[in-house]
Formats: sequence, structure tokens, C-alpha cells
Amino acid sequence: MRPLIVIGGGPAGYAAALTAARKGRETILVEEAELGGTCLNRGCIPTKALAKSAGVFSLLKGAKEFGIRSSDVGVDWASVMARKKSIVDGLRRGLQGLIKGAGISVVSGRATLQGGGKVEVVDASGKATALEGDAIIVASGSTVKNPFPCAIDEKDILSSTGILELAELPSSLIIVGGGVIGLEFANIFNSLGVKVTVIEALPRLLYGIDEEASTLLMKILKARGVEFRLSAKVSKIEKAKGKVRVSLEGGNGVEEFVADKVLLAVGRAPNVNGLGLDKAGVQVEGGRIKVDAKMRTTAKGVYAAGDVIGNPMLAHAGFLEGEVAARVACGEEASVDWRAIPSCVYTTPEIAQVGLSEEEARKQFDKVIVGKYPLRGNGRALIEDEGGQDGFIKIVADRKYGEVLGVTMVGPFATELIGLGVLAITNELTIDQMADTVQGHPTVCEAIREAALIAVGRPLHFGR
Ligand code: NAI
Repeated sequence: MRPLIVIGGGPAGYAAALTAARKGRETILVEEAELGGTCLNRGCIPTKALAKSAGVFSLLKGAKEFGIRSSDVGVDWASVMARKKSIVDGLRRGLQGLIKGAGISVVSGRATLQGGGKVEVVDASGKATALEGDAIIVASGSTVKNPFPCAIDEKDILSSTGILELAELPSSLIIVGGGVIGLEFANIFNSLGVKVTVIEALPRLLYGIDEEASTLLMKILKARGVEFRLSAKVSKIEKAKGKVRVSLEGGNGVEEFVADKVLLAVGRAPNVNGLGLDKAGVQVEGGRIKVDAKMRTTAKGVYAAGDVIGNPMLAHAGFLEGEVAARVACGEEASVDWRAIPSCVYTTPEIAQVGLSEEEARKQFDKVIVGKYPLRGNGRALIEDEGGQDGFIKIVADRKYGEVLGVTMVGPFATELIGLGVLAITNELTIDQMADTVQGHPTVCEAIREAALIAVGRPLHFGR
């Protein structure tokens, strides 16, 4: 049997390679940059490391709230960046160890499909290597979208890659795009004392997330000094005397914003170009590789996983898709169920959602029941603070069968606690089962039960 070839060493690609190799399959992993992909090197991990430092700074500045005196609190940007780098480097070393331990051969270079199971890899020096496999898994990821007539120089006009490598803290920052990336950076830089303006084309932030949650986050960030322009059309982005200027066009004429830096965060596009997909008979639809739930493309023996297949473009979706692609390529029965992939937004407070938002559930189902518990009634949320006073947990269920359809959380530990919602939706639990599950006290987790109790008409720490 010829080997299994994986193209791309990000979450989807390395999960696929580890899965196949651990099944005893000879596996080759082709990567043109670092193992770990965007998530580990330029995405999830470094961003959350910066968010933690920003959170520690905010906590220390607000220590008085907790009855603690603090002085000489400041940001040592170089040390913030060094901590981030050391976490990323450590995890990358760990991943290299896992790959080596599983006996995977790593080939450095850029891969293109040649058809008939053949892949050509060209390394940085231009040397070409021919590979041949029985199965190919394409996990080539995504790149930042830039629909504007300006180049991203990663100095003043930044993408989410360049902003993670800033040599010093800017004093002001304009963020174009009020999605997950835009808001996580707005939260980080606002916490670090940078003047932040967010410009969003739609009339609301975080499209796809429960509207009540996104409205609440905007209110909280606004109160902390972040400026927002919604329903805004960016007409120009240009450099101006060591600064950047962003012009908006709207009903009130042209409005201009000037800042030290601008971050473009208007989405990512699947990497489908220059891979030889045509040659191999792999169909691209709407800018992404078309796959079925078994991760099979339109070409026999070619699979795809991760950002290259389009939404939800999340690392944890990529892990699952990569595992499924490898299992199917190894002859097992497996498929991906995208209903219970959580969305996690690492702002303060955190937002997390799994399944349907309330708006979406109301559209798709005849009748729904909703239980919403405000966290100002939850002891642990108040103790932790972190926006706990304003947050909430909301569960939406189908009225007919009681099946849990969606869980949304805004508050401390939301990105951790959403795991309970994931379990509920994956296993088709009912709202009664959620209500009849006891959680520890005092925890924010209890609020999930409180929301379920409200939904089934048995409120405890709520109402009169
Ligand atoms: P996004 O699609 O989440 O948000 C982009 C935002 O930009 C949207 O709200 C859109 O309406 C807005 N926009 C588009 N064109 C615009 C324009 N011309 N002017 C102003 N606004 C405009 O994309 P984002 O935030 O760049 O993230 C990319 C991907 O990375 C997403 O798939 C996201 O889920 C993923 N990601 C996930 C994270 C997490 O799970 N915590 C963190 C970071 C990224």
C-alpha cells in the first residue's frame, strides 16, 4: 500500500497525520512553514497569551475593587511578547515530538497535486520531490482577506499576523471588522490602554452569535472606551505622516479616523490556489473545497479538512475534520456532525455559543422555550467579576420534545463551560435532563442549571 499524504501541518493536517500514523499507516506530512499552522503560530495560541497579559494588567489596575492596594502597575511590552513566544515555542516543540513519536515523515516545501495520487513538493531552495500516495488529505488552511485597495505592510496596515509581532504598543488602533478577530484584539488593546475604534459593515457585531450577547459585549466595551461605527462603509485606507487614515462613507458624508495603526479583520479565505486542484479533479465551490460529511472531495482518494473547506474555520473543527478524513481514508466508518461545534470569543467577558442562537432557533423551529439566567444572581460570577454582573446564560430548546437546540453564555469561564452545552447538543439531551443535573456550588456552571430550571418553569434563584 502506498502512503497517506497530508498537505498542511495545521490543526486539521496534523490531526489527520497523527490519526493515520497511529493506525499503522505510513504517513507523510508536507508543510511549507512551521508545524502547528495559523492556530499555534499566528492565531489562537499567541492571541490568547496576549489576552491573558492584558487581563492581568486590567486586574491589577482594578485591584482596589478587590480590597488590594497596588502601585507601579505598568506594561512591559517586550516581556509580554516574550511570554507569548515561549508558550508558542513550547507547544510547537511538543507537537514536533508527537509527530516524530508517531513515526510521521515530515517533508518541507510547497505541495501541488499532480493527479493519480501524485504530489510534487518544491522546497525553499527550489528542489522538487515527487511523492505518491493512495490517499491525499488537503489541509492547506486559509489566509487573511483584504478587499481594500491598500497593501497589508504588517507595519502600519496590519493583519492578525502582523499585530502579534508589534515591536511596541501603539497609542491608537483602528480595527476594520467587528467579528471574532476584531473584537478579541479590541479587547486586548483597550485593556492595555490603547485608544481603539472598531468599524463594522453590518449593523451588529459578531454576526452569527446570539444578538443579545453581541449587543451586551458592545455595551461593555463601549463603557470601557472602545469607539464603534456600525453599518459603516470603508472607502479608503491610507498612510498619512507616520499614521494611518481610514475614511468612511455614509449618510452623513465622509468621516475620517486617524490612528497609529490599522488592523484589517474582515475574514479569512480558504487557500485553494496553486494546489493543482483542477488537475486532480477536486471541485472548488464558493471559494472552498467541496466535501461531504466523510471529508471526501470530488476526486477519488482525495480528502480535505480544516479552513480550506470553509466555515466554521475553527481549529477545533479542523481537529475533528482531520481525524474523520484520516479514519475514512484508512477504511473506517466516520463522519463529521457540525451541529455541536462551539464558538468561543475570548473577550472580557468571554462569549461562547453552541448550537443555534435564539434568533436562528425561532426561525427554524415552530415553537421554542428559552431559559435565560442573569449572572448577577450567581455568586461565583460576582466573586470573579470579569463582567460577571452583566453576563447571562441562555438555553434554547424545542418546545415539542424539549431537545436542547442552543446554549449561549456571556461571563467568566464561558469558553470552558460551553463544553456542557456541547455534550448536551451532541447527545440530544433535553432541557429537563439539563434541569435535573446538579452542579457544584458556588460555580458559574450552576447558572446553566438555573437557566434550564427557568425554561422548564421551576426557577430557583430567580423571580419572585
Ligand atoms: P469574521 O467573519 O468573524 O468577521 C469579519 C467581520 O468583518 C464581519 O463582522 C464582517 O461583517 C466585517 N466586514 C467585512 N467586510 C467589511 C468592511 N469592508 N468594512 C467593515 N467591516 C467588514 O472574520 P474574522 O474576525 O476576520 O475571523 C476570521 C476567521 O477566524 C473566522 O472564521 C473566525 O471564526 C476565526 N477565528 C476564530 C477565533 C475564535 O474562535 N476565538 C479567533 C480568531 C479567529
